[in-house]
Amino acid sequence: MKVAALALALVASMPVVASAHQAGDFFMRAGTATVRPTEGSDNVLGLGSFDVNNNTQLGLTFTWMATDNVGIELLAATPFRHKVGLAATGTLATVRQLPPTLMAQYYFFDSNSKIRPYIGAGINYTTFFDTDFNQTGRDAGLSDLSVKDSWGMAGQVGLDYEIDQNWMLNMSVWYMDIDTEVKFKANGQQQNINTRIDPWVFFFGIGYRF
Ligand code: NI
Repeated sequence: MKVAALALALVASMPVVASAHQAGDFFMRAGTATVRPTEGSDNVLGLGSFDVNNNTQLGLTFTWMATDNVGIELLAATPFRHKVGLAATGTLATVRQLPPTLMAQYYFFDSNSKIRPYIGAGINYTTFFDTDFNQTGRDAGLSDLSVKDSWGMAGQVGLDYEIDQNWMLNMSVWYMDIDTEVKFKANGQQQNINTRIDPWVFFFGIGYRF
């Protein structure tokens, strides 16, 4: 009787085997998302190509597992804010953007694995807003800035590490094809500059399975 009670106590105290990413699971990850543009553009007023700086915001992913290995994921974030300028002038403007992205994913290994590397491919929509020239830009005679929304493909690789049945750590890298047209006036003259953002996005976060 004592042995049975002891055995029961031992079983009860054993860690639950992490079961990772099974069909029907829904999980959410939160962490830092850093957008690192690999930018370039048409020549701007004979001064070269636009520079766009990096920005880090709160990133969120929402994932639903259709099978033990196939997931559907939506990326969301608080708005990214980028400084835009030219090497010769420094920063001329600031722009905010949101890049929601929908991915189809394949998770390697099986649902008992503590580590689930994955790859994904999908579609990105990026909307730009709060586009404003700063004092330097206005002093240079620049006005009426707008940046066209973009649709493009996205790819990713990532890794989930299961801490327990509910919690996981994540790191993932995305590449997004974001191409746009920057429109503004320079001393009243309309300028339309084809601009490539095409960023790498680095995500480090913690996830929770519901
Ligand atoms: Ni591109």
